Amino acid sequence: MLELDNLTKSFGGLQAVDNCSLKIEAGKITGLIGPNGAGKTTIFNMIAGAMKPTSGRILFQGEDIAGLPTHEMFHRGIVRTFQIPHEFGKLTVLENLMVVPADQTGENLFYGLFTPGAVQKREDEVRALAEETLEFLTLTHLKDELAENLSGGQKKLLELGRTMMTDAKLVLLDEPGAGVNPTLLKQLGNMIRRLKEERGYTFCIVEHDMDMIASLCDPVIVLNEGSVLTQGKMEDVRKDERVLDAYLGGGEEAA
Ligand SMILES: Nc1ncnc2c1ncn2[C@@H]1O[C@H](COP(=O)(O)OP(=O)(O)OP(=O)(O)O)[C@@H](O)[C@H]1O
Ligand SMILES: [Mg+2]
Repeated sequence: MLELDNLTKSFGGLQAVDNCSLKIEAGKITGLIGPNGAGKTTIFNMIAGAMKPTSGRILFQGEDIAGLPTHEMFHRGIVRTFQIPHEFGKLTVLENLMVVPADQTGENLFYGLFTPGAVQKREDEVRALAEETLEFLTLTHLKDELAENLSGGQKKLLELGRTMMTDAKLVLLDEPGAGVNPTLLKQLGNMIRRLKEERGYTFCIVEHDMDMIASLCDPVIVLNEGSVLTQGKMEDVRKDERVLDAYLGGGEEAA
């Protein structure tokens, strides 16, 4: 589905991503791991269009999309989750889902001003989709709650829910497990699995929680100093000496 071909991103003299080549296969949940500063978030930024590569190609379904802006990536079904923006805290949970389509597809409200009937119809459709999404997330009981009152884990579920308001194909999750309690973490994992199975999503997940990676991801790609160190099944990867060295060298706990 997605292929990085000799992708490089330099910041001054630093090669944050260094001639990196890897593949993300359709219908899989690929884990992207590696020590702090390995280049994981920078790769996500380039895939999502938030940063332009210095060189190299990003092939999505065979087409080179490197350097296209965020909305073009979004249009193609590449969606990256973000923390609920601060100002959205004052919107309800339901509203947070309902703003996604207008917010991110680049459509604006003018479209509605000239065709009032169409607006009502569209709003009804979006509301129905948002309610269906809340059912899936088991957040229906919180639909009228302000988003800022949700727990950290519930916010993560809502972030994932925002992808369900779009025609997502490839979903990029950057540290979805951070700050989430074990019960919700399990629920989040199940949602990710179900989205893969029931909706055919392809995921790429950056995560430092190795148990979460082990339970969800196959394959796992290990990044170190901007390029791929090794890849394979988590059970094999975590035994690899080079992976242990990379983590220890980076001053972080071993995988
Ligand atoms: N905008 C930027 N300007 C300059 N340097 C940057 C910028 N963004 C990232 N870097 C540097 O690029 C390298 C890779 O950073 P990146 O955030 O991609 O790492 P990461 O693998 O996501 O790490 P972590 O696990 O800590 O989130 C780091 O050395 C970082 O300091
Ligand atoms: Mg990062």
